[in-house]
Amino acid sequence: MLLGMDVGTGGTRAILIDHDGRVLASHSADHAPISSLQTGWAEQEPEDWWRAAQIAIRGALAAANRPASEIEAIGLTGQMHGCVMLDAAGAVLRPALIWCDQRTQPECDWLTEKIGAAKLIELTCNPALPNFTLTKLLWVRTHEPQIFSRIAHIMCPKDYVRYRLTGEFAIDVQEASGTLLLDVTHRRWSSEVADAAGIPLSWLPRVFEGPEFCAKISEAGASATGLKAGTPVAAGAGDQGAGAVGMGIISPGAVSATIGTSGVVFASTDSPVKDAKGRLHTFCHSAPGRWHVMGVTNAAGLSLRWFRDTFAAGEDYDALSAEASTAPAGCDGLLWAPYLFGERTPHLDPEARAAFVGITARHTRAHFIRAVLEGVAFSLRDTFVLLKEMGIPQGRIRLGGGGARGSLWRQIQADVYAHDVELLEAEEGGAFGAALLAGTGAGVWPSVDAACEATLRVRETVSPIAKDVAAIASAYAAYRRVYPALHQLQIS
Ligand code: XUL
Repeated sequence: MLLGMDVGTGGTRAILIDHDGRVLASHSADHAPISSLQTGWAEQEPEDWWRAAQIAIRGALAAANRPASEIEAIGLTGQMHGCVMLDAAGAVLRPALIWCDQRTQPECDWLTEKIGAAKLIELTCNPALPNFTLTKLLWVRTHEPQIFSRIAHIMCPKDYVRYRLTGEFAIDVQEASGTLLLDVTHRRWSSEVADAAGIPLSWLPRVFEGPEFCAKISEAGASATGLKAGTPVAAGAGDQGAGAVGMGIISPGAVSATIGTSGVVFASTDSPVKDAKGRLHTFCHSAPGRWHVMGVTNAAGLSLRWFRDTFAAGEDYDALSAEASTAPAGCDGLLWAPYLFGERTPHLDPEARAAFVGITARHTRAHFIRAVLEGVAFSLRDTFVLLKEMGIPQGRIRLGGGGARGSLWRQIQADVYAHDVELLEAEEGGAFGAALLAGTGAGVWPSVDAACEATLRVRETVSPIAKDVAAIASAYAAYRRVYPALHQLQIS
């Protein structure tokens, strides 16, 4: 039996699986809402993740009704990029700045100037973006020097939970790629970037490959959670890396499109393929010897949630989706540009703003809902276009996240990507992938590829609807013209 834990943004989830990939039990606990003291700020309390982790683990163990001693290994995953800062005694110094915090553009500009844009991409495979951990640390140095001067350890969210479970400071290469401090090509910390940024290497956790064991449950971790002291803990991966394992996106040609709060198109590669403009993230994969690229839409599922909360409060997603299905493909010219939280791929513009474009008197609410679903898929298609430009193969596309659950959004994705899309029998997300990484470390499977082969099965393939392809293609062509026009308006 293997335990996978996902320290997400909204909550923490623990699942127990067997060697066939069957989920024996799972349990989730919500986090306190994100604190946003100013526009664009997003913070969470690490202690709250630890509280939720204890509830999730205890709940999963109770639901499985099996002794904790049967757990062979534990794998961790979680929201990426967050910056947790501890003092020398291991105490949290301030709330963590998390992945969607957008306050650090000045620090990004400083770092880019200091190292040079091309050099930074050469060293880390990525440009400086406000989402990345290092820029958050630099913000604390500028604005809270009294806190910065007490830092002894920095880490990402799941690695703080690891610290509480085991007493060890460790990180995996996939997560570390999203800090902007990793030499992604050589899978080790970049002393050149750390030096230029003024960050001591001693603050950084030790780096491991995803399936590698890096720690054991401590006595304190055991008494807080009901786990057995000494149970090995694998390094794991950030949520995107572990989620890709859970969807079998391991070898070149495999691509996933996941619509959760954010939307991610993720492709596995066998070398670090960089975009000279840094529009896609190039990270180490959680499978040893592999890398991946990913394009991120900041407000994917979030676009639909925002629409519902703002214009259809109290209605459920199934009803909204049924209503949207009465509008035609292409929405009679109505477009949604989903830049509610700025945008990462392909625009790298934290100041980008969302818009409905092309409204006429004939548009109904159904058109607006469908336009949101199409606009989010168009935004993910922008990443598919970049993948093609970069020569990255797109063999099979698998869908994941909430966006794969409703039949209309699934169909819209097949139509917009103009490609067959596959759905898995059980799409269990990052916690499942983390458990597979742990099982690989424990020798249950000889490799991450073998773990996926043993546990994942395709349930359904959805093909594009031929009669809608032309309408969708012309709507996408129009969508491509929206961002440059919005950008010119300079509304922010
Ligand atoms: C990935 C990313 C998000 C967060 C939150 O780059 O920012 O997926 O990990 O889930």
